[in-house]
Amino acid sequence: MAFSLSWACVIFGCIFASLAGTSSISEAYPPLWKESPGQFSDYNVENGKYIINVWHYPERLGTYKILLNKTAKYFEKYAPENEQNILWGLAVQHGWQYHTGRLADPTQMTDCGHESGDHLCISVDSWSADINYYLSAMPFFAAVDSGIMGISSDNVTVLPPSKDQMSFCYNVSSCHSSFPEVMKKWNEFYQHVKSNSSNCDDLLKYLWAAHVSSLEVARKNFHNRLKYYSKQEADFERNWALFVDYLAPSLFPTTLIRTHEFQKGLPTRVLVSGDRAPFIKDFTGFQNTILLALNFIQKMHEYTGTLSFAVWKTLMKLKIARKLFVEILEFILHFFN
Ligand SMILES: *[C@@H]1O[C@H](CO)[C@@H](O)[C@H](O)[C@H]1NC(C)=O
Ligand SMILES: *[C@@H]1O[C@H](CO)[C@@H](O)[C@H](O)[C@H]1NC(C)=O
Ligand SMILES: *[C@@H]1O[C@H](CO)[C@@H](O)[C@H](O)[C@H]1NC(C)=O
Ligand SMILES: *[C@@H]1O[C@H](CO)[C@@H](O)[C@H](O)[C@H]1NC(C)=O
Repeated sequence: MAFSLSWACVIFGCIFASLAGTSSISEAYPPLWKESPGQFSDYNVENGKYIINVWHYPERLGTYKILLNKTAKYFEKYAPENEQNILWGLAVQHGWQYHTGRLADPTQMTDCGHESGDHLCISVDSWSADINYYLSAMPFFAAVDSGIMGISSDNVTVLPPSKDQMSFCYNVSSCHSSFPEVMKKWNEFYQHVKSNSSNCDDLLKYLWAAHVSSLEVARKNFHNRLKYYSKQEADFERNWALFVDYLAPSLFPTTLIRTHEFQKGLPTRVLVSGDRAPFIKDFTGFQNTILLALNFIQKMHEYTGTLSFAVWKTLMKLKIARKLFVEILEFILHFFN
C-alpha cells in the first residue's frame, strides 16, 4: 500500500504541532462573544416564549453562550473560567465559520452574510450554516429538555429560515419528532453531564456520539448545498466532515484553547477555484499542510473502501491506544516547538 505509517506521522505531527503555542482564554473566544446574548432575557419574548433568530450570527452564538454558562458548574472542577468545558468546541467552530465567510450566501443572490451587506446574517444556502444548525439547535433544545437550562421546554422557539423549512426543527417537541435519534443522543450526553459521577472520558464518549449522529443526518440533508461552491471548497468541506468522523473515536477533548489552537490550521477564507494546496499564498504552511492532509485522509478512506475507518475505530476502542495516540501527539508537539 502506498500510504505508509511515516506519512501518517507527518500528517498528525503537523496537525497537532500548532497546539503547543497556547493562547489566552479571551483570544480563543469566537468573534462577538462578549456582545452576544448570554441569558434568555436578552432575547425577544412573544406569547410567553423566547424567540431566537438563529439566522443571525450573534443570536445563534448566544445559544452556545447560554449552554456554556448553564453547564459551567459541571466543569469547574477541572479548570477555572470554564476552559475545560467540552462544549466549547461547537461554539469555537461556529466562530470560525463566521470569521471565514462560510455562513454567507454562496449563491451571491443576496447580500446575506457578505461583508459589504448584512454581514451578521446566516444564509440558509450555506452548507456550513445548515450543518451547524444540527450542531447548535439540537444540542440546545436537548439541553432545555434535560432541564439544564432552567426553563420549560415550551418556552423557547427558534425562527424558521426562508426556505426548506422541513429540513429543520424549531422547538423541543418538533426536534424530538423530526430527529428522534439525534435528540436522544444529545439527551444522553446531558444526563451524564448532570450525574456528577461521569469522568471526562465518559462525557467525551457521549458528546462525540451525539456529534456524529447530528453530522450524519445533516450531511445527508444538505449535500445539495455543495454545488454552490468551487470544487476546492466543496472538497474541503466534505473532507473536513470526514476528518471529524476520524477524530470522533479518538475522543479528542474539545475544550476552549485546544479547539482554538487546532483551528489555526484551517483555511481562513472560502476556497476558490485556482487554490492549490500547498501553494496557496495567503495561507500559512501549516494551513496548506492541513489541506493536503485532509485530502490524503479522504483518498485513503476511498482507496481502502472505508476499511481504514473500521480499523481506526477498532483501535480507538482501546483506552490504551487512545492514550498512546494522545501521548504521541504531545511528544510530536513538543518536538516541533
Ligand atoms: C413559560 O410558559 C409558561 C406556560 O406557558 C408561562 O406561564 C410563563 O410565563 C412562561 N415564562 C416566560 C419567562 O415567558
Ligand atoms: C452565567 O451568566 C450569568 C448571567 O449573565 C452570570 O451572572 C454568571 O456569572 C455566569 N456564570 C458563569 C459560570 O459564567
Ligand atoms: C413546535 O413546533 C411545531 C412545528 O413548528 C409546532 O407545530 C408546535 O406547535 C410547536 N410546539 C410548541 C410547544 O411550541
Ligand atoms: C453536581 O455538582 C454540582 C456542582 O458542583 C452540584 O450543584 C450538584 O448538586 C451536583 N449534583 C449531584 C447529582 O450530585
